[in-house]
Amino acid sequence: MNAKVLAALRAIVGDAGLLIDSERIAAYLTDWRGAFTGTALAVVRPSSTDEVARVVAACASAGVAIVPQGGNTGLAAGATPIGLADAIVLSLERMRRIRALDAAGFTIAVDAGCVLAEVQRAAEEAGRLFPLSFAAEGSAQIGGAIATNAGGTAVLRYGSMRTLVLGLEVVLPDGRVADGLRALRKDNAGYDWKQLFIGSEGTLGIITGAVLRLFPRPRTVATALAGLRTLDDALALFALLQDALGETLSACELFSERTLALQLAHRPERERPLPEHAWYLLIEAGSSLPGLRDALERALGDALERGIAGDAIVAESSTQRDALWTWRESITESERREGPSAKHDVAVALSDVPAFVREASDAVESRFPGARVLAFGHVGDGNIHFNVLLPPDRSATSAQVNELVHGIVARYRGSITAEHGIGRYRRDELPAHRSESERALMRAIKTAVDPDGRMNPGAVI
Ligand code: FAD
Ligand code: MLT
Ligand code: ZN
Repeated sequence: MNAKVLAALRAIVGDAGLLIDSERIAAYLTDWRGAFTGTALAVVRPSSTDEVARVVAACASAGVAIVPQGGNTGLAAGATPIGLADAIVLSLERMRRIRALDAAGFTIAVDAGCVLAEVQRAAEEAGRLFPLSFAAEGSAQIGGAIATNAGGTAVLRYGSMRTLVLGLEVVLPDGRVADGLRALRKDNAGYDWKQLFIGSEGTLGIITGAVLRLFPRPRTVATALAGLRTLDDALALFALLQDALGETLSACELFSERTLALQLAHRPERERPLPEHAWYLLIEAGSSLPGLRDALERALGDALERGIAGDAIVAESSTQRDALWTWRESITESERREGPSAKHDVAVALSDVPAFVREASDAVESRFPGARVLAFGHVGDGNIHFNVLLPPDRSATSAQVNELVHGIVARYRGSITAEHGIGRYRRDELPAHRSESERALMRAIKTAVDPDGRMNPGAVI
């Protein structure tokens, strides 16, 4: 049967679109962290929506499961075909066309396989801004970012991917195409079905195209790094900056001294950006009106005078801005280089962030000697990546650490994933964090859209 399916798929996508050689497909079968590996019959790489539709229809009639894959940068093992006997990985990497850019209408229509950085660049060339941004933007695809409802570093001002999507084109599990590629700001004609696919992690269908919102490009961007004694100071500084800078504030990113020290250990040639503090806050604001930089400097001066910040620097050039951002954006890569970790992508109410981090750090370090907490993230959104490097003697597993941390998250009525998703990494923990009625709703949606359960089986639910 497999030979017959592969022949049918080859007839649709051609030789260039079908990979079956084990060496060629290995990279598609392992996740970005190298923590999970799966198996697949083949990697299928269609080059158009029509080809995707025909591939999905062929898999439907052969009963073959499909694991959609974008840039394979996801951090929840959602794109890794773990434990699936006869599945294909459907990669969108050959669908990279920018379909249309409407500068006056502030929209861009793209293939789902477009890499996020390419979309940002296309917007920039048209004098516009596509604000979604995170460290994996050079590889992550628009379809993957939609399927995970990605967040990143500009959610504070622009929202997560859900708020950036105006229209979607999706191939349904039976191979039909749902064409909702509309560039409308308002549309109440029936259920807004595209919302189901945003954040569905490949379990409902294949996203093949999207219309995205663009924004005016701020003429001035002001970036600063502040050193702080406590997390309470981080919240006080965030409040002060919001009062002073209002809606121009676009990023408020936190990282601990340990995350900075880890990067210095891996790259000793780099110079520490500020004298040692327990915490650092990376702040960015953007505006097309004059006076932004002065306003940021005044706000930081105020924070220093009131003892909220211990030290601060404001970037003098785009090179300095990039250097400051690197301290924030390289943390995940340093963590990967350091060794296995238990990942957390926690959301709690903003004012609970200090208490949560203190309680979870104490609990992890006392229960698992040798474990090292790397806490950082999008503090302005109440979203902390409370990652934990596992003890070198392997005396604790990721699952044990996850359970401890997520138990504390539950007491704060938080979320076990603010932006990365459930995937396969957090699937078995979902029932403890969503009520029976919520899970029944999720199952009803899954069954209605994908009755045969062939779309990314084993992920999410
Ligand atoms: P993949 O990893 O390929 O897939 C992710 C999920 O989406 C899988 O379930 C897959 O089946 C599904 N999928 C992919 N494409 C499609 C499609 N076309 N149709 C249907 N389903 C599809 N995330 C954040 O939100 N914020 C961050 O700040 C952030 N920072 C990161 C930093 C680093 C260094 C790394 C490695 C990752 C980071 N991520 C972050 C994780 C983030 O989820 C992904 O980078 C990105 O959103 C996934 O895009 P991708 O194309 O790589 O998707
Ligand atoms: C980030 O914000 O850098 C990533 O989402 C974090 C992670 O590695 O968990
Ligand atoms: Zn993040």
